[in-house]
Amino acid sequence: MRSTFLVSGLIASALAAEPFLNEPDTGLEVYLSGTNWTEGSQPLLKDMRGIPDFDFAARQKLDNPKYSFYRTASAGEWSYRNNLDIWSKVKFRARFLTDVTKVNETLTTTILGYNFSSPVFIAPAARAGYGDEKGEVNFVEASGKENTLYVAALYASKTIEEIAAAKVNNTPNGQQVIFQQFYTNANLSVTWDAISRAEKTGAKALVWTIDAPADSTRHRAARYDTTNANSVTSALTWDLYDQIKNRTSLPIIPKGISTLEDAQEAVRRGVKAIYISNHGGRQLDHSPSPLEIAYEIYRNDPEIFTKVEVLADSGVRYGSDVLKLLALGVKAVGMGRSFMYANCYGVEGVQKAIQIMKTEIAHDAAQVGIHDVQNIPVSLLNARALEQTVYLAGN
Ligand SMILES: Cc1cc2nc3c(=O)[nH]c(=O)nc-3n(C[C@H](O)[C@H](O)[C@H](O)COP(=O)(O)O)c2cc1C
Ligand SMILES: *[C@@H]1O[C@H](CO)[C@@H](O)[C@H](O)[C@H]1NC(C)=O
Ligand SMILES: *[C@@H]1O[C@H](CO)[C@@H](O)[C@H](O)[C@H]1NC(C)=O
Ligand SMILES: *[C@@H]1O[C@H](CO)[C@@H](O)[C@H](O)[C@H]1NC(C)=O
Ligand SMILES: *[C@@H]1O[C@H](CO)[C@@H](O)[C@H](O)[C@H]1NC(C)=O
Ligand SMILES: *[C@@H]1O[C@H](CO)[C@@H](O)[C@H](O)[C@H]1NC(C)=O
Repeated sequence: MRSTFLVSGLIASALAAEPFLNEPDTGLEVYLSGTNWTEGSQPLLKDMRGIPDFDFAARQKLDNPKYSFYRTASAGEWSYRNNLDIWSKVKFRARFLTDVTKVNETLTTTILGYNFSSPVFIAPAARAGYGDEKGEVNFVEASGKENTLYVAALYASKTIEEIAAAKVNNTPNGQQVIFQQFYTNANLSVTWDAISRAEKTGAKALVWTIDAPADSTRHRAARYDTTNANSVTSALTWDLYDQIKNRTSLPIIPKGISTLEDAQEAVRRGVKAIYISNHGGRQLDHSPSPLEIAYEIYRNDPEIFTKVEVLADSGVRYGSDVLKLLALGVKAVGMGRSFMYANCYGVEGVQKAIQIMKTEIAHDAAQVGIHDVQNIPVSLLNARALEQTVYLAGN
């Protein structure tokens, strides 16, 4: 009996899906166990080799309420896991014997006409003060040193003015470029005030978060009552977009686009850029990952990628993830949690996370035979797995 049980148990486990790993095992803990590191203390920054390492490190430093606020996603967190898993379904079609020796010089890009050293930016995320007392100032300083884009969150630990005061003046754009994220408040005078403060402090674009029309279901954070930062949101409509447009001359980038139709509507309304996202899986469980959203747009209306600039985030952890989005036409890619975790090491941690992404993009581009990161052919991807589930208009 016992052996029968064992055998059927083995068959069952062989058939079961592999367990989800928040941080794939690349030997961090084994390595640390051979050093003087002790559980519950932060490893040395030099031992952070990949972006997922920062998640492990943040868990050592932050208490459960704070870590859970950063880490939480919606409901069963299926979207959160899909955001991380989806990349493995789309394989690379590497072309060899092409000269890729200068690919590291092609990471520089523009976003709405501003020059940046990398297509990776810091996505807007509330409460950076949990990770380090300097909060968002670390994001400004690290982005300034690396000349990358920072999108500041409205519900930041520092004020709009404190964040702006940390900007440097010696970038390829002159003064450092920051975009300002905002939620529209049910009391619109609060919103108009936030927009005018962002304008006065020199923000170059407004990122309007449209995927938070109500509180979201976040069990992991609800345990500690750190669920939401955005429970006072207004009725979100395209009419409101028109009203905002009347109030400001800054470009307004809708963040949270997750369908072809909303992308098309945004283009009709005259936006200069759209921002594909499922909010890191924090709003609606079973919302699609950015790779699936970008693919839906690519398959139905690929010209959208040339009519407007397309930004994207959610689940990006590796240089190769960035290349997959760029191959579909995405212009720049944001990361949320990873920079919040990196901020537990202060400005050096944030800077190292930016550098890791730059290095990985250059390395991976070379590995797949891309000599220009700004011109990646879609044939880089075998997207048959996405083709099986993609929404096609008219079908
Ligand atoms: C702790 C935290 C706070 C966030 N706060 C905001 C916010 O205030 N406004 C917003 O538009 N998005 C917010 N986001 C979503 C991020 O902008 C981004 O879409 C998401 O983190 C991307 O997924 P990733 O964490 O897997 O990179 C937040 C994300 C996190 C992790
Ligand atoms: C652990 O060792 C490193 C050098 O490898 C040293 O810099 C660090 O201070 C040590 N930490 C502790 C807690 O002893
Ligand atoms: C690209 O790599 C080469 C060779 O490793 C190096 O000399 C050069 O400085 C790098 N350029 C950039 C922009 O990083
Ligand atoms: C970006 O760089 C180009 C080329 O160096 C330059 O002509 C342009 O003025 C820069 N853009 C901004 C906004 O500074
Ligand atoms: C809306 O916000 C403004 C500015 O903060 C405030 O003066 C006003 O009392 C608020 N109105 C309501 C109805 O809460
Ligand atoms: C925008 O401003 C124009 C001109 O002042 C006005 O006619 C229009 O009704 C306004 N639209 C909205 C949605 O506020």
